[in-house]
Amino acid sequence: LPDTGFSNSIVVSRYREKTPGSAKAAKEAADRFPSGVTHDSRYLEPYGLYVDRAQGSHKWDVDGHQYVDYFGGHGALILGHNHPKVVEAVHRQVDKGNHFGASHKLEVRWAELIQKLIPCAERVRFTASGTEATLMGLRLARAYTGRNKLLRFKQHFHGWHDHMASGVSSHFDGTPTTGVVVGVTDNVLLAQANDEAGTRMIVEANPDIAAVILEPTGASFGRVPVKPSFLAFLRQITKEKGIVLIFDEVVTGFRVSPGGAQAHYKITPDLTSLAKILAGGMPGGAIVGKKEIMDYLDFAVTKARGVEKVYHPGTFNGNPMAAASGIATLEIIDSTDACAKANDYGARWRKAMNEVIALEGVPWAAYGAFSGCHIFTNPAKKSISPKTFDAEAMPDTELKGQWSPTIVHKLRLGMIVNGVDFNSSPGGICSCMHSDADLNKTAEALRSTLKLLKDEGEFR
Ligand SMILES: Cc1ncc(COP(=O)(O)O)c(C=O)c1O
Repeated sequence: LPDTGFSNSIVVSRYREKTPGSAKAAKEAADRFPSGVTHDSRYLEPYGLYVDRAQGSHKWDVDGHQYVDYFGGHGALILGHNHPKVVEAVHRQVDKGNHFGASHKLEVRWAELIQKLIPCAERVRFTASGTEATLMGLRLARAYTGRNKLLRFKQHFHGWHDHMASGVSSHFDGTPTTGVVVGVTDNVLLAQANDEAGTRMIVEANPDIAAVILEPTGASFGRVPVKPSFLAFLRQITKEKGIVLIFDEVVTGFRVSPGGAQAHYKITPDLTSLAKILAGGMPGGAIVGKKEIMDYLDFAVTKARGVEKVYHPGTFNGNPMAAASGIATLEIIDSTDACAKANDYGARWRKAMNEVIALEGVPWAAYGAFSGCHIFTNPAKKSISPKTFDAEAMPDTELKGQWSPTIVHKLRLGMIVNGVDFNSSPGGICSCMHSDADLNKTAEALRSTLKLLKDEGEFR
Protein backbone atom coordinates (compact mmCIF):
# COMPACT_ATOMS: atom_id res chain seq x y z
CA LEU A 1 0.00 0.00 0.00
CA PRO A 2 1.21 3.51 -0.74
CA ASP A 3 1.07 4.16 2.94
CA THR A 4 1.50 7.29 4.96
CA GLY A 5 0.72 6.49 8.55
CA PHE A 6 -1.17 3.26 7.88
CA SER A 7 0.92 1.24 10.29
CA ASN A 8 0.42 3.77 13.12
CA SER A 9 -3.31 3.91 12.52
CA ILE A 10 -5.75 3.69 15.47
CA VAL A 11 -8.15 1.73 13.25
CA VAL A 12 -5.45 -0.81 12.45
CA SER A 13 -4.50 -1.31 16.10
CA ARG A 14 -8.17 -1.74 17.09
CA TYR A 15 -8.50 -4.33 14.31
CA ARG A 16 -5.41 -6.19 15.51
CA GLU A 17 -6.72 -6.19 19.10
CA LYS A 18 -10.06 -7.67 18.00
CA THR A 19 -8.83 -10.33 15.58
CA PRO A 20 -5.83 -12.29 16.97
CA GLY A 21 -7.22 -15.57 15.56
CA SER A 22 -7.35 -14.09 12.06
CA ALA A 23 -3.81 -12.73 12.46
CA LYS A 24 -2.56 -16.20 13.38
CA ALA A 25 -4.36 -17.86 10.45
CA ALA A 26 -3.12 -15.17 8.05
CA LYS A 27 0.45 -15.76 9.17
CA GLU A 28 0.15 -19.42 8.25
CA ALA A 29 -1.57 -18.58 4.95
CA ALA A 30 1.26 -16.23 4.00
CA ASP A 31 3.54 -19.26 3.59
CA ARG A 32 1.04 -20.99 1.32
CA PHE A 33 -0.70 -18.41 -0.91
CA PRO A 34 0.55 -15.34 -2.76
CA SER A 35 -0.44 -12.47 -0.45
CA GLY A 36 -2.06 -15.10 1.78
CA VAL A 37 -5.36 -15.00 -0.13
CA THR A 38 -7.31 -17.07 -2.66
CA HIS A 39 -9.28 -14.21 -4.31
CA ASP A 40 -7.87 -10.75 -5.02
CA SER A 41 -10.81 -8.93 -3.47
CA ARG A 42 -10.29 -10.74 -0.15
CA TYR A 43 -6.92 -9.03 0.20
CA LEU A 44 -6.90 -6.65 3.14
CA GLU A 45 -4.08 -4.87 4.93
CA PRO A 46 -2.72 -5.78 7.48
CA TYR A 47 -4.53 -9.15 7.03
CA GLY A 48 -8.01 -10.38 6.19
CA LEU A 49 -10.76 -11.68 8.44
CA TYR A 50 -10.94 -15.48 8.93
CA VAL A 51 -14.54 -16.61 9.14
CA ASP A 52 -15.65 -19.73 10.96
CA ARG A 53 -19.40 -19.94 10.30
CA ALA A 54 -22.35 -17.99 8.97
CA GLN A 55 -26.14 -17.86 9.26
CA GLY A 56 -28.72 -15.59 7.62
CA SER A 57 -27.25 -12.10 7.30
CA HIS A 58 -24.46 -12.79 9.79
CA LYS A 59 -21.10 -14.44 10.00
CA TRP A 60 -18.72 -15.17 12.87
CA ASP A 61 -14.94 -14.91 12.79
CA VAL A 62 -12.49 -17.39 14.29
CA ASP A 63 -12.37 -15.28 17.47
CA GLY A 64 -16.14 -15.70 17.90
CA HIS A 65 -17.21 -12.15 16.90
CA GLN A 66 -20.45 -11.69 14.97
CA TYR A 67 -20.65 -9.47 11.86
CA VAL A 68 -23.41 -8.16 9.63
CA ASP A 69 -22.27 -9.58 6.29
CA TYR A 70 -22.27 -7.51 3.12
CA PHE A 71 -19.95 -9.77 1.13
CA GLY A 72 -22.91 -12.10 0.61
CA GLY A 73 -20.75 -14.88 -0.82
CA HIS A 74 -19.50 -12.41 -3.49
CA GLY A 75 -23.16 -11.84 -4.39
CA ALA A 76 -24.23 -15.49 -4.49
CA LEU A 77 -26.37 -15.41 -1.34
CA ILE A 78 -29.52 -13.37 -1.90
CA LEU A 79 -31.27 -15.73 0.54
CA GLY A 80 -28.56 -15.17 3.15
CA HIS A 81 -26.31 -17.88 4.54
CA ASN A 82 -27.66 -21.40 5.07
CA HIS A 83 -31.28 -20.97 4.03
CA PRO A 84 -32.89 -24.10 5.58
CA LYS A 85 -34.38 -25.27 2.25
CA VAL A 86 -31.04 -24.93 0.46
CA VAL A 87 -29.20 -26.71 3.29
CA GLU A 88 -31.74 -29.54 3.26
CA ALA A 89 -31.48 -29.95 -0.53
CA VAL A 90 -27.67 -30.11 -0.39
CA HIS A 91 -27.70 -32.58 2.52
CA ARG A 92 -30.13 -34.80 0.64
CA GLN A 93 -27.96 -34.73 -2.46
CA VAL A 94 -24.62 -35.38 -0.77
CA ASP A 95 -26.05 -38.63 0.58
CA LYS A 96 -27.07 -39.66 -2.94
CA GLY A 97 -23.79 -38.75 -4.62
CA ASN A 98 -21.94 -35.61 -5.56
CA HIS A 99 -20.82 -36.47 -9.10
CA PHE A 100 -22.30 -39.06 -11.41
CA GLY A 101 -20.33 -38.33 -14.58
CA ALA A 102 -23.74 -38.69 -16.23
CA SER A 103 -26.88 -36.74 -16.97
CA HIS A 104 -29.33 -36.48 -14.07
CA LYS A 105 -32.82 -35.19 -13.43
CA LEU A 106 -31.73 -32.32 -11.21
CA GLU A 107 -29.94 -30.55 -14.07
CA VAL A 108 -33.13 -30.70 -16.13
CA ARG A 109 -35.23 -29.16 -13.34
CA TRP A 110 -32.54 -26.54 -12.74
CA ALA A 111 -32.63 -25.53 -16.42
CA GLU A 112 -36.44 -25.53 -16.40
CA LEU A 113 -36.41 -22.90 -13.63
CA ILE A 114 -33.86 -20.81 -15.54
CA GLN A 115 -36.02 -20.94 -18.65
CA LYS A 116 -39.04 -19.92 -16.61
CA LEU A 117 -37.30 -16.94 -15.03
CA ILE A 118 -34.79 -15.57 -17.57
CA PRO A 119 -36.51 -14.18 -20.71
CA CYS A 120 -33.75 -14.98 -23.25
CA ALA A 121 -33.10 -18.54 -22.02
CA GLU A 122 -34.36 -20.68 -24.91
CA ARG A 123 -31.45 -23.06 -24.23
CA VAL A 124 -29.06 -23.53 -21.29
CA ARG A 125 -25.49 -24.83 -20.99
CA PHE A 126 -24.05 -25.17 -17.48
CA THR A 127 -20.47 -24.22 -16.65
CA ALA A 128 -18.51 -24.27 -13.39
CA SER A 129 -18.22 -20.49 -12.99
CA GLY A 130 -19.20 -17.07 -14.30
CA THR A 131 -15.80 -16.71 -15.96
CA GLU A 132 -16.47 -19.85 -17.97
CA ALA A 133 -19.97 -18.65 -18.83
CA THR A 134 -18.79 -15.37 -20.40
CA LEU A 135 -15.93 -17.20 -22.14
CA MET A 136 -18.38 -19.60 -23.75
CA GLY A 137 -20.81 -16.79 -24.63
CA LEU A 138 -18.10 -14.93 -26.52
CA ARG A 139 -16.96 -18.09 -28.31
CA LEU A 140 -20.53 -18.95 -29.33
CA ALA A 141 -21.00 -15.42 -30.67
CA ARG A 142 -17.88 -15.79 -32.82
CA ALA A 143 -19.01 -19.19 -34.08
CA TYR A 144 -22.50 -17.93 -34.87
CA THR A 145 -21.48 -14.71 -36.64
CA GLY A 146 -18.22 -15.92 -38.19
CA ARG A 147 -16.68 -12.66 -36.96
CA ASN A 148 -13.66 -12.09 -34.70
CA LYS A 149 -13.93 -8.91 -32.66
CA LEU A 150 -15.55 -8.33 -29.30
CA LEU A 151 -16.82 -5.01 -28.01
CA ARG A 152 -16.77 -4.46 -24.27
CA PHE A 153 -17.02 -1.49 -21.92
CA LYS A 154 -14.41 0.12 -19.73
CA GLN A 155 -14.52 -1.06 -16.11
CA HIS A 156 -17.10 -3.78 -16.72
CA PHE A 157 -16.02 -7.08 -15.21
CA HIS A 158 -16.68 -10.38 -16.95
CA GLY A 159 -14.37 -12.78 -15.10
CA TRP A 160 -10.64 -13.17 -15.45
CA HIS A 161 -10.12 -14.93 -18.79
CA ASP A 162 -7.72 -13.41 -21.34
CA HIS A 163 -10.23 -11.59 -23.56
CA MET A 164 -11.82 -9.69 -20.71
CA ALA A 165 -8.69 -8.85 -18.68
CA SER A 166 -7.84 -5.40 -20.10
CA GLY A 167 -9.89 -2.35 -19.19
CA VAL A 168 -11.42 -3.63 -15.95
CA SER A 169 -9.25 -1.75 -13.48
CA SER A 170 -6.27 -0.94 -15.72
CA HIS A 171 -5.09 -1.05 -19.35
CA PHE A 172 -7.95 1.19 -20.50
CA ASP A 173 -6.03 1.68 -23.76
CA GLY A 174 -6.70 -1.99 -24.53
CA THR A 175 -3.08 -3.15 -24.19
CA PRO A 176 -2.74 -6.63 -22.68
CA THR A 177 -2.48 -7.13 -18.93
CA THR A 178 0.45 -9.17 -17.63
CA GLY A 179 0.42 -12.67 -19.10
CA VAL A 180 -2.06 -11.95 -21.91
CA VAL A 181 -0.85 -11.89 -25.53
CA VAL A 182 -1.36 -8.98 -27.93
CA GLY A 183 -3.12 -11.24 -30.45
CA VAL A 184 -5.99 -11.60 -28.00
CA THR A 185 -6.40 -7.94 -27.14
CA ASP A 186 -6.10 -6.95 -30.82
CA ASN A 187 -9.55 -8.40 -31.20
CA VAL A 188 -11.15 -6.67 -28.24
CA LEU A 189 -12.52 -3.15 -28.62
CA LEU A 190 -13.03 -1.01 -25.51
CA ALA A 191 -15.82 1.55 -25.44
CA GLN A 192 -17.27 3.92 -22.86
CA ALA A 193 -20.65 2.83 -21.51
CA ASN A 194 -23.46 5.40 -21.88
CA ASP A 195 -21.63 6.98 -24.85
CA GLU A 196 -23.99 6.24 -27.71
CA ALA A 197 -22.14 8.31 -30.32
CA GLY A 198 -18.74 6.84 -29.46
CA THR A 199 -20.08 3.30 -29.41
CA ARG A 200 -21.84 3.81 -32.74
CA MET A 201 -18.59 5.09 -34.25
CA ILE A 202 -16.72 1.98 -33.12
CA VAL A 203 -19.46 -0.32 -34.39
CA GLU A 204 -19.63 1.46 -37.79
CA ALA A 205 -15.83 1.31 -38.17
CA ASN A 206 -15.61 -2.41 -37.30
CA PRO A 207 -17.83 -4.68 -39.40
CA ASP A 208 -16.05 -7.68 -37.81
CA ILE A 209 -17.71 -7.40 -34.36
CA ALA A 210 -19.20 -10.71 -33.18
CA ALA A 211 -20.46 -9.67 -29.76
CA VAL A 212 -21.15 -6.76 -27.46
CA ILE A 213 -20.98 -7.69 -23.77
CA LEU A 214 -21.81 -5.62 -20.70
CA GLU A 215 -23.00 -5.68 -17.11
CA PRO A 216 -26.55 -4.39 -17.64
CA THR A 217 -26.77 -2.27 -14.47
CA GLY A 218 -23.22 -0.95 -14.92
CA ALA A 219 -19.68 -1.92 -14.01
CA SER A 220 -19.43 -3.83 -10.71
CA PHE A 221 -23.18 -3.97 -10.06
CA GLY A 222 -23.71 -0.30 -10.82
CA ARG A 223 -20.61 1.18 -9.22
CA VAL A 224 -20.39 2.93 -12.59
CA PRO A 225 -24.08 3.00 -13.53
CA VAL A 226 -25.40 2.25 -17.03
CA LYS A 227 -28.45 4.16 -18.21
CA PRO A 228 -31.39 1.97 -19.26
CA SER A 229 -31.58 4.05 -22.47
CA PHE A 230 -28.06 2.83 -23.31
CA LEU A 231 -29.27 -0.77 -23.03
CA ALA A 232 -32.08 0.03 -25.48
CA PHE A 233 -29.55 1.68 -27.81
CA LEU A 234 -27.31 -1.40 -27.67
CA ARG A 235 -30.24 -3.71 -28.34
CA GLN A 236 -31.14 -1.69 -31.40
CA ILE A 237 -27.66 -1.28 -32.90
CA THR A 238 -26.70 -4.92 -32.35
CA LYS A 239 -29.92 -6.04 -34.05
CA GLU A 240 -29.20 -3.63 -36.93
CA LYS A 241 -25.66 -4.96 -37.41
CA GLY A 242 -26.21 -8.68 -36.71
CA ILE A 243 -24.07 -8.56 -33.56
CA VAL A 244 -24.77 -10.87 -30.62
CA LEU A 245 -25.75 -8.89 -27.52
CA ILE A 246 -24.61 -10.53 -24.28
CA PHE A 247 -25.86 -9.39 -20.89
CA ASP A 248 -23.46 -10.52 -18.19
CA GLU A 249 -25.98 -11.19 -15.42
CA VAL A 250 -23.60 -13.11 -13.16
CA VAL A 251 -24.44 -10.64 -10.37
CA THR A 252 -27.78 -9.19 -11.53
CA GLY A 253 -29.41 -12.49 -12.53
CA PHE A 254 -32.09 -13.56 -10.00
CA ARG A 255 -31.18 -10.47 -7.94
CA VAL A 256 -32.38 -7.27 -9.65
CA SER A 257 -35.62 -9.18 -10.22
CA PRO A 258 -36.37 -12.91 -10.48
CA GLY A 259 -35.72 -12.55 -14.23
CA GLY A 260 -32.61 -10.41 -13.75
CA ALA A 261 -31.96 -6.99 -15.31
CA GLN A 262 -33.41 -8.08 -18.66
CA ALA A 263 -36.82 -8.75 -17.12
CA HIS A 264 -36.66 -5.54 -15.09
CA TYR A 265 -35.78 -3.34 -18.08
CA LYS A 266 -37.77 -5.44 -20.57
CA ILE A 267 -34.78 -5.64 -22.92
CA THR A 268 -33.94 -9.15 -24.07
CA PRO A 269 -30.34 -9.90 -25.06
CA ASP A 270 -29.31 -12.77 -27.33
CA LEU A 271 -27.18 -14.49 -24.69
CA THR A 272 -26.86 -14.17 -20.91
CA SER A 273 -24.12 -15.34 -18.58
CA LEU A 274 -25.28 -16.49 -15.15
CA ALA A 275 -23.53 -17.71 -11.98
CA LYS A 276 -23.54 -16.80 -8.25
CA ILE A 277 -27.24 -16.94 -7.18
CA LEU A 278 -27.80 -19.49 -9.97
CA ALA A 279 -26.15 -22.16 -7.81
CA GLY A 280 -27.23 -20.78 -4.43
CA GLY A 281 -23.72 -20.52 -2.98
CA MET A 282 -22.23 -23.60 -4.65
CA PRO A 283 -19.81 -23.24 -7.60
CA GLY A 284 -21.71 -23.09 -10.88
CA GLY A 285 -22.55 -20.98 -13.91
CA ALA A 286 -24.43 -21.09 -17.18
CA ILE A 287 -24.58 -19.49 -20.59
CA VAL A 288 -28.16 -19.25 -21.78
CA GLY A 289 -29.88 -17.70 -24.77
CA LYS A 290 -31.29 -17.97 -28.23
CA LYS A 291 -31.60 -21.49 -29.58
CA GLU A 292 -30.06 -20.67 -32.95
CA ILE A 293 -26.86 -19.46 -31.24
CA MET A 294 -26.80 -22.14 -28.53
CA ASP A 295 -27.22 -24.67 -31.35
CA TYR A 296 -23.49 -24.33 -31.97
CA LEU A 297 -23.19 -26.66 -28.96
CA ASP A 298 -25.63 -29.19 -30.49
CA PHE A 299 -24.14 -32.30 -32.13
CA ALA A 300 -27.03 -33.00 -34.52
CA VAL A 301 -27.77 -29.40 -35.54
CA THR A 302 -24.14 -28.54 -36.32
CA LYS A 303 -23.77 -31.79 -38.27
CA ALA A 304 -26.91 -31.05 -40.29
CA ARG A 305 -25.71 -27.49 -40.95
CA GLY A 306 -22.27 -28.74 -41.94
CA VAL A 307 -20.53 -26.48 -39.40
CA GLU A 308 -18.02 -27.34 -36.71
CA LYS A 309 -19.55 -27.74 -33.25
CA VAL A 310 -18.20 -25.60 -30.42
CA TYR A 311 -16.39 -28.03 -28.14
CA HIS A 312 -17.44 -27.84 -24.50
CA PRO A 313 -16.44 -30.34 -21.81
CA GLY A 314 -16.12 -29.32 -18.12
CA THR A 315 -15.88 -31.73 -15.18
CA PHE A 316 -18.24 -29.75 -12.97
CA ASN A 317 -20.84 -28.65 -15.57
CA GLY A 318 -24.29 -29.26 -14.09
CA ASN A 319 -22.82 -30.77 -10.92
CA PRO A 320 -25.55 -32.46 -8.81
CA MET A 321 -24.62 -30.59 -5.61
CA ALA A 322 -24.75 -27.22 -7.38
CA ALA A 323 -27.98 -28.27 -9.09
CA ALA A 324 -29.64 -29.21 -5.77
CA SER A 325 -28.60 -25.92 -4.20
CA GLY A 326 -29.57 -23.97 -7.35
CA ILE A 327 -33.01 -25.54 -7.63
CA ALA A 328 -33.85 -24.84 -3.97
CA THR A 329 -32.67 -21.24 -4.39
CA LEU A 330 -34.44 -20.52 -7.68
CA GLU A 331 -37.69 -22.09 -6.42
CA ILE A 332 -37.68 -19.64 -3.51
CA ILE A 333 -36.86 -16.72 -5.83
CA ASP A 334 -39.68 -17.77 -8.13
CA SER A 335 -42.28 -18.19 -5.42
CA THR A 336 -41.47 -15.42 -2.90
CA ASP A 337 -40.63 -11.71 -2.80
CA ALA A 338 -36.95 -12.40 -1.95
CA CYS A 339 -35.60 -10.03 -4.67
CA ALA A 340 -38.03 -7.25 -3.72
CA LYS A 341 -37.11 -7.63 -0.04
CA ALA A 342 -33.39 -7.38 -0.79
CA ASN A 343 -34.01 -4.36 -3.05
CA ASP A 344 -36.05 -2.67 -0.33
CA TYR A 345 -33.28 -3.19 2.23
CA GLY A 346 -30.78 -1.88 -0.34
CA ALA A 347 -32.70 1.41 -0.69
CA ARG A 348 -32.99 1.86 3.10
CA TRP A 349 -29.34 0.91 3.57
CA ARG A 350 -28.10 3.55 1.08
CA LYS A 351 -30.35 6.17 2.71
CA ALA A 352 -29.07 5.28 6.20
CA MET A 353 -25.44 5.46 5.06
CA ASN A 354 -26.02 8.90 3.53
CA GLU A 355 -27.70 10.14 6.70
CA VAL A 356 -24.63 9.12 8.72
CA ILE A 357 -22.24 10.65 6.17
CA ALA A 358 -24.23 13.92 6.28
CA LEU A 359 -24.34 13.88 10.08
CA GLU A 360 -20.58 13.44 10.28
CA GLY A 361 -20.02 16.13 7.62
CA VAL A 362 -17.76 13.90 5.54
CA PRO A 363 -17.44 14.55 1.75
CA TRP A 364 -18.49 11.02 0.81
CA ALA A 365 -21.72 9.51 -0.52
CA ALA A 366 -23.51 6.18 -0.67
CA TYR A 367 -25.20 5.22 -3.92
CA GLY A 368 -26.24 2.29 -6.02
CA ALA A 369 -29.41 0.51 -7.02
CA PHE A 370 -31.35 -2.65 -6.19
CA SER A 371 -29.63 -4.64 -3.42
CA GLY A 372 -26.22 -2.97 -3.62
CA CYS A 373 -24.55 -0.08 -1.84
CA HIS A 374 -21.38 1.64 -3.00
CA ILE A 375 -19.47 4.06 -0.83
CA PHE A 376 -17.94 6.90 -2.84
CA THR A 377 -14.79 8.00 -1.03
CA ASN A 378 -14.25 11.03 -3.27
CA PRO A 379 -10.69 10.55 -4.55
CA ALA A 380 -10.57 13.98 -6.25
CA LYS A 381 -11.74 15.60 -3.00
CA LYS A 382 -14.61 17.38 -4.73
CA SER A 383 -17.16 19.37 -2.84
CA ILE A 384 -20.12 17.00 -2.75
CA SER A 385 -23.13 16.39 -0.57
CA PRO A 386 -24.54 12.92 0.11
CA LYS A 387 -28.02 14.42 -0.26
CA THR A 388 -27.51 15.56 -3.86
CA PHE A 389 -24.83 13.13 -5.03
CA ASP A 390 -25.44 11.93 -8.58
CA ALA A 391 -23.17 9.03 -9.59
CA GLU A 392 -24.17 9.36 -13.26
CA ALA A 393 -22.72 12.87 -13.30
CA MET A 394 -19.33 11.73 -11.94
CA PRO A 395 -16.39 10.65 -14.11
CA ASP A 396 -16.26 6.85 -14.17
CA THR A 397 -12.59 6.97 -13.27
CA GLU A 398 -13.50 8.50 -9.90
CA LEU A 399 -16.27 5.99 -9.24
CA LYS A 400 -14.21 2.86 -9.73
CA GLY A 401 -10.59 1.95 -9.31
CA GLN A 402 -9.05 5.32 -8.51
CA TRP A 403 -9.62 5.57 -4.80
CA SER A 404 -6.83 5.35 -2.27
CA PRO A 405 -6.35 1.76 -1.08
CA THR A 406 -5.39 3.11 2.33
CA ILE A 407 -8.75 4.76 2.93
CA VAL A 408 -10.68 1.78 1.58
CA HIS A 409 -8.77 -0.65 3.79
CA LYS A 410 -9.21 1.61 6.80
CA LEU A 411 -12.94 1.94 6.13
CA ARG A 412 -13.27 -1.83 5.96
CA LEU A 413 -11.16 -2.36 9.08
CA GLY A 414 -13.17 0.26 10.97
CA MET A 415 -16.43 -1.42 9.98
CA ILE A 416 -15.08 -4.82 11.07
CA VAL A 417 -14.01 -3.35 14.41
CA ASN A 418 -17.64 -2.23 14.75
CA GLY A 419 -19.19 -5.55 13.72
CA VAL A 420 -19.86 -5.11 9.99
CA ASP A 421 -18.10 -6.76 7.05
CA PHE A 422 -18.20 -4.50 3.98
CA ASN A 423 -16.73 -5.78 0.72
CA SER A 424 -13.72 -4.34 -1.02
CA SER A 425 -15.65 -2.16 -3.50
CA PRO A 426 -16.07 -0.59 -0.83
CA GLY A 427 -19.70 -1.18 0.14
CA GLY A 428 -21.52 -4.39 -0.39
CA ILE A 429 -24.49 -6.43 -1.42
CA CYS A 430 -27.41 -7.47 0.78
CA SER A 431 -29.81 -10.39 1.08
CA CYS A 432 -33.51 -10.76 1.79
CA MET A 433 -32.50 -11.73 5.35
CA HIS A 434 -31.01 -8.38 6.36
CA SER A 435 -33.12 -6.87 9.14
CA ASP A 436 -33.87 -3.49 10.72
CA ALA A 437 -31.49 -4.47 13.53
CA ASP A 438 -28.76 -5.08 10.91
CA LEU A 439 -29.48 -1.68 9.40
CA ASN A 440 -29.18 0.09 12.77
CA LYS A 441 -25.96 -1.77 13.55
CA THR A 442 -24.54 -0.83 10.13
CA ALA A 443 -25.41 2.85 10.59
CA GLU A 444 -23.83 2.89 14.07
CA ALA A 445 -20.76 1.10 12.71
CA LEU A 446 -20.31 3.67 9.94
CA ARG A 447 -20.72 6.52 12.42
CA SER A 448 -18.08 5.07 14.76
CA THR A 449 -15.76 4.31 11.83
CA LEU A 450 -15.99 7.84 10.45
CA LYS A 451 -15.22 9.20 13.91
CA LEU A 452 -12.17 6.92 14.13
CA LEU A 453 -11.02 8.02 10.68
CA LYS A 454 -11.47 11.66 11.67
CA ASP A 455 -9.45 11.02 14.84
CA GLU A 456 -6.55 9.88 12.74
CA GLY A 457 -6.81 12.88 10.43
CA GLU A 458 -8.23 11.25 7.31
CA PHE A 459 -10.49 14.16 6.35
CA ARG A 460 -8.11 17.00 7.08
C1 LIG B 1 -20.41 -9.46 -13.70
C2 LIG B 1 -19.52 -10.63 -13.46
N1 LIG B 1 -19.21 -11.44 -14.47
C3 LIG B 1 -18.42 -12.52 -14.32
C4 LIG B 1 -17.90 -12.83 -13.09
C5 LIG B 1 -17.01 -14.03 -12.92
O1 LIG B 1 -17.71 -15.02 -12.22
P1 LIG B 1 -16.87 -16.14 -11.41
O2 LIG B 1 -16.22 -15.45 -10.28
O3 LIG B 1 -17.93 -17.13 -11.01
O4 LIG B 1 -15.90 -16.71 -12.39
C6 LIG B 1 -18.19 -12.01 -11.99
C7 LIG B 1 -17.64 -12.32 -10.65
O5 LIG B 1 -17.70 -11.57 -9.73
C8 LIG B 1 -19.01 -10.89 -12.18
O6 LIG B 1 -19.30 -10.07 -11.16
